[in-house]
Amino acid sequence: MKVLIAGCGYVGTELGLRLSEEGHQVWGLKRRPEGLPEGIEPVAADLLSTDLVDRLPDVDHVVYAAAADGGTREAYRAIYVDGVRNLLDALSSPEREPIRRFIFVSSTGVYGDSGGEWVDEETPAEAESFRGTEVRAGEEAALGGPFPASVLRLGGIYGPGRTRLLQMVREGRVRCPGDGPIWSNRIHRDDAARALQHLLNLSEPAPIYVGVDDEPTPLCQVYREVARMLGAPEPVVDPDQSRDRSNKRCSNRLLRESGFSFTYPSFREGYGAMVAAGD
Ligand SMILES: NC(=O)c1ccc[n+]([C@@H]2O[C@H](COP(=O)([O-])OP(=O)(O)OC[C@H]3O[C@@H](n4cnc5c(N)ncnc54)[C@H](OP(=O)(O)O)[C@@H]3O)[C@@H](O)[C@H]2O)c1
Repeated sequence: MKVLIAGCGYVGTELGLRLSEEGHQVWGLKRRPEGLPEGIEPVAADLLSTDLVDRLPDVDHVVYAAAADGGTREAYRAIYVDGVRNLLDALSSPEREPIRRFIFVSSTGVYGDSGGEWVDEETPAEAESFRGTEVRAGEEAALGGPFPASVLRLGGIYGPGRTRLLQMVREGRVRCPGDGPIWSNRIHRDDAARALQHLLNLSEPAPIYVGVDDEPTPLCQVYREVARMLGAPEPVVDPDQSRDRSNKRCSNRLLRESGFSFTYPSFREGYGAMVAAGD
C-alpha cells in the first residue's frame, strides 16, 4: 500500500510507524512535519490550502486523522468538514489514480446522550453539541465522497505522553460525578493505530466502526482505580460534575467481529502500562 496520513499527529504517527514496519510506503501530511520519525515521509501542507493538490504524493490509501486547532465551531468546521472536502477534491483531480480506501478518523462525540445506555454503529448519531455535529458532517463528506470510505469513531485517546488524567489524579484534582454512573469510553493510542491498520487491511470494511476498548467504565471507577495504582488520594464526589456530559456506553462489537482484538482491553491495562513505564 501507499498510504497518506492526512493530519499525522499522535495517532497518525503511531499508525505510520506500524504501516512502515509492515512494509508499506507512508507519507505523513501536516503543516509542520519536522520531527516525524524515520519511516514516514514528511509532507508539509495545509489541508485547507488551495494548492493542496500540488503537494500530494501518489498514494492509494488515505487516513484522515487531523484534529481541530481549537474548540470553536469554526475550527471544527474547518478541519472536520472543509479540510475533508478540500482533500477529496484534490485527490479527485483527473491525472491521479483513484484512492482505494479513504478512512476518516471520527469520534464517539457524534452520539448524543443515551442516558448511559449502549450505543453502536446502528444508533443514530445525534449529538447536541456543535463538536459532534461538525464531526458527523465530516463523516458524511467522507462517506458521500468519490472513493470507498470508512469511518472509525474513537473514544477518548490516551497513552504514552498523554498523561493529563494521571497528573490530575496524582494531584488530587479529579472529582467523581454524583447522581449515578457517567460512563467513559476510551482507547489506547496503540490500539487506535492498530485498529486503523486493521481496517486498511480488510478487503470489505463496513462504512462505520466504533473504536473503543472492551470496557466502558464509570468515570468515578476509573478515577478510583487509577488513584489506587498511583497511591494517590481517593477522589471526592462532586455532584456538579455530572452536568453537561453526554452519558453513553459505546460497543466495539462490530470491530471485534471483524477480527480485531485489543492490546489494552481496558483502562486498567493501558494506564497500568503507563504507570509501570513511569508516565
Ligand atoms: N484526542 C482524543 O481523545 C480524540 C477522541 C476521539 C477522536 N479523536 C480524533 O482522532 C484524530 C487523531 O487525534 P490525535 O490526538 O492524533 O490528534 P493530534 O495529535 O492533535 O494530531 C492532529 C494533527 O493534525 C495536524 N493538522 C491540524 N490541522 C491541520 C491542517 N489544517 N493541515 C494539515 N494538518 C493539520 C496537526 O499537525 P500540524 O499542526 O503540524 O498541522 C496534528 O499533528 C482526530 O481526528 C481527533 O479528532 C481524538
